[in-house]
Amino acid sequence: MSIHRYIKKGSRQTWGTKIGIILAVAGSAIGLGNFLRFPVQAVLNGGGAFLIPYFVALFLVGIPLMWIEWTVGRYGGGFGHGTAPGIFHSMVKKSRFIKYFGVIGIFGPIIIFIYYTYIESWLLGYTFFSLSEKYVSAVKAGEVKDFFFGYVNIENNKYFNGIGIAYFFFLITFALNFIIIYFGIRTGIEKVSKIAVPMLLILGIILMLRVITLGTPDPSKTAWNINNGFGFLWNPDFSKLGDPKVWLSAVGQILFTLSVGIGVILTYASYLKKEDDVVLSGLTSASTNEFVEIILGGSIVIPVAFAFFGPEQIVKITQEGTFGLGLMTMPLIFGKIPLGEIFAFFWFLLLFLAGITSSISLLQPAIAFFEDEFNLSRKKTVLIVGVITFILCQPAIFFMKQGAIDELDFWAANFCLVFFALIETILFAWIFGIDKAWEEIHHGAQMKVPGFYKFIMKYITPLFLFAILAFWFIKEWWGIIIMKNVPTENQGVIIGIRIMLILFFIILAILVKIAWNKKGLIKENVKRMNNR
Ligand code: ALA
Repeated sequence: MSIHRYIKKGSRQTWGTKIGIILAVAGSAIGLGNFLRFPVQAVLNGGGAFLIPYFVALFLVGIPLMWIEWTVGRYGGGFGHGTAPGIFHSMVKKSRFIKYFGVIGIFGPIIIFIYYTYIESWLLGYTFFSLSEKYVSAVKAGEVKDFFFGYVNIENNKYFNGIGIAYFFFLITFALNFIIIYFGIRTGIEKVSKIAVPMLLILGIILMLRVITLGTPDPSKTAWNINNGFGFLWNPDFSKLGDPKVWLSAVGQILFTLSVGIGVILTYASYLKKEDDVVLSGLTSASTNEFVEIILGGSIVIPVAFAFFGPEQIVKITQEGTFGLGLMTMPLIFGKIPLGEIFAFFWFLLLFLAGITSSISLLQPAIAFFEDEFNLSRKKTVLIVGVITFILCQPAIFFMKQGAIDELDFWAANFCLVFFALIETILFAWIFGIDKAWEEIHHGAQMKVPGFYKFIMKYITPLFLFAILAFWFIKEWWGIIIMKNVPTENQGVIIGIRIMLILFFIILAILVKIAWNKKGLIKENVKRMNNR
């Protein structure tokens, strides 16, 4: 193979505007986690008291990691690398192994992508159905659960027979993601984020205002009102703060919602220019996400579900899981208010937009890997990544009933996230060195990071992350490995998923090795030519 193939064809892409990158990162962060996962976590972990560990985790883990990922990404981008293997390698050139830790930064996002996109496609389907006769009749009959179970093919019923419709919307969603990615950083991701993020903010504000003005929907049940709904969510139960699980949930929520520890912010930041600010921009995107999570995410599903279903039912609903609230509870409420179909349409569209701006960010690391490390054209890259992810998506779709999505979610969004965040922090503060890191953060910065963050990044953030891993390891690992909570009939599927994950990880590691072997070959050839 010609060595010219591995010599860069020109400079990498860059973001067009500062607001563009901020909105793209905010778009990646604002997702289903903000509107569905956060309120459920709050209810289950002490209501208003949950905000204490939540803010502690935000300031000690979330914000430092946001700055680390922006800085490290920009640094690696300067060497032509947009994904963790290359970025880590450019930070610690002497180590031959560090790049293999970086494989997690491509693996994790792809694994999240393969089930996230399927869930996102339900929201597209529901956006469409929210205006249809079939759906409205299901809502009127109070059969939204049947509608959902039929849609995702958990059962065949009068609403759906087979998985055809859900698969059709999956194909559209999948294609939409790749079309945006194909247009690249400026004309794809940046343009879409500039439209989708403001749009979802407006939809969120409209829905929040509608919820706040609902008052007491059923005059015969005066205690079931919106004020008490907010009280239910936010009245603090301080006794919960002694439970380490509450603290773990808070850190998990912070990492998930900010999209840090995944590998995606690194990639987005690699398209910054050397002189671009990362401190203020990182903080702005994180603050936008927090506004959406706490103010909008905290004001919609729980208060409204309380006002309609009352204090006992709502506990059951939140225990049923995150998506139940979004897809099965909210529609029932929309069925009872004037212009309900329009609000249902707004709700599903809001969730779809939040989803797609996150899923494109999950795809970009794999795209950047092939573009940067194999010097492939965008067209070829999109084709390769498209085929691989399409194949990987199938188990999530066809084995959902057997727990495939939960299994993928555990490994990618729980384990890899914390592990990768820990690696990044140690690499940045200890191996790259906190003094050099500090200088790098402040390059082109429009504000100074408070000095005590030097201490936090070096000691507190890694300790916090290490404690979570250690806690999991001691408490839960063995049970997970032996599939203690998996029904026997589903164990075959779960083992299949695990084999798929291991094989995929190995293939990625081999690709990293091949890419670096080629680079070594080029260097040698160039040296030889120079010596001639
Ligand atoms: N940060 C994204 C979310 O909250 C993944 O859904």
